[in-house]
Amino acid sequence: MLNAAARLGISSASLIDQHPAKSAVSTRQDAYIRENDFAEPTVVFDLDMLRAKYDALVAGLGDASVHYAVKANPAPEIVAALRDRGARFDCASKGEIDLCLGQGVPASEIAFGNTIKRASDIAYAHAVGVEQFAVDAESELRKIAAHAPGARVIVRMLVESSDADWPLTRKFGCAPREALRLMDLGRYLGLDVAGISFHPGSQMREPRMWASALDGALALWTEAKANGHDLRILNIGGGFPAFYGLPLPATEDYAAEVMRMVRSRFGADVTVMAEPGRGLVAEAGVIVAEVLLVSKKDQDDLQRWVYLDIGKFSGLAETMDEAIRYQFETRHGDSCETGPCILAGPSCDSADVLYEKRPVQLPLDLTDGDKVRILCTGAYTTSYSSVGFNGFPPLRSVFVG
Ligand SMILES: Cc1ncc(COP(=O)(O)O)c(C=O)c1O
Repeated sequence: MLNAAARLGISSASLIDQHPAKSAVSTRQDAYIRENDFAEPTVVFDLDMLRAKYDALVAGLGDASVHYAVKANPAPEIVAALRDRGARFDCASKGEIDLCLGQGVPASEIAFGNTIKRASDIAYAHAVGVEQFAVDAESELRKIAAHAPGARVIVRMLVESSDADWPLTRKFGCAPREALRLMDLGRYLGLDVAGISFHPGSQMREPRMWASALDGALALWTEAKANGHDLRILNIGGGFPAFYGLPLPATEDYAAEVMRMVRSRFGADVTVMAEPGRGLVAEAGVIVAEVLLVSKKDQDDLQRWVYLDIGKFSGLAETMDEAIRYQFETRHGDSCETGPCILAGPSCDSADVLYEKRPVQLPLDLTDGDKVRILCTGAYTTSYSSVGFNGFPPLRSVFVG
């Protein structure tokens, strides 16, 4: 079961764990890219890389249950591959629930993890058999009590500060005092207040970054138990990192260390669930894009502007504030002479600039028509791609493996 990496034609060590300078492209992806023409930006996604990643994460997480955060990449092929591997699913909407049900996932294996839900979607989820709902506000709790009576609720705690590259602070979760109040109210409303959740922020590069969120969760857990709540489930959210160029521990070691930190605080009896998105799917995708234009605003400028056929609105939204720094490969290889480039997307929106504060080094003889591979782009790309902005089609995916 654990040798999916070997079947990829790359050793599991080279998957990421040895900190290569660049994220791996599998032989299957490489062959597909060489053998095909690409008229539009395309994610080439290797399902075998996904399986290998899932296996490594599960090996590290031990007895925790893994709920794939569907929002990271809602492709049916990915849901089906993870279903076959034994994964469960974290859904943000009715659409994602339908996607999972359509792939034969039992409703009992789906958690409705969004804290902002339409009442009719709560009723729908309850009617089809979804049992677990996230909550961080009184109105939401009352909606759940009305439309999913008796349901299992998990109260989401606010993580005030995060070392993550893509923090999720303040929009989600509530303060500990409010969480305790919601638990009391939930019990009064006849709901099964079963646990707490948090999301430490996405792309947490080191396990030690989880410590403060776990400490906060433990303090809340302890107080809730003292208030008579029968808490059983700790949901540690996503946050598992992908390789964008900075060193990471091996996936299994990282997950095992997070679990060691959880168990040392919460003991062996607590049911732990994790909701990895990025950490599962990012590395299995590579985008094939094209250079549309290379220009200078003035011939004396040191930096070139490179315009790709993909930008912020067509899949690379996570370049916002240059938070996620993708890596690029060109036909020129890594040994050619390079120079700094401001990278931009193709739309007529001036916000569609990917990297300007920290320019990207690209070959000096890069020219329009060149293909560019954008590495580690299996997460939050297709799902962030706009539909028809400036007339560009949504980001296309193909699957190998
Ligand atoms: C509730 C919830 N769980 C899990 C995830 C997945 O996070 P990540 O991609 O960091 O693994 C998200 C991402 O926004 C989320 O909102």
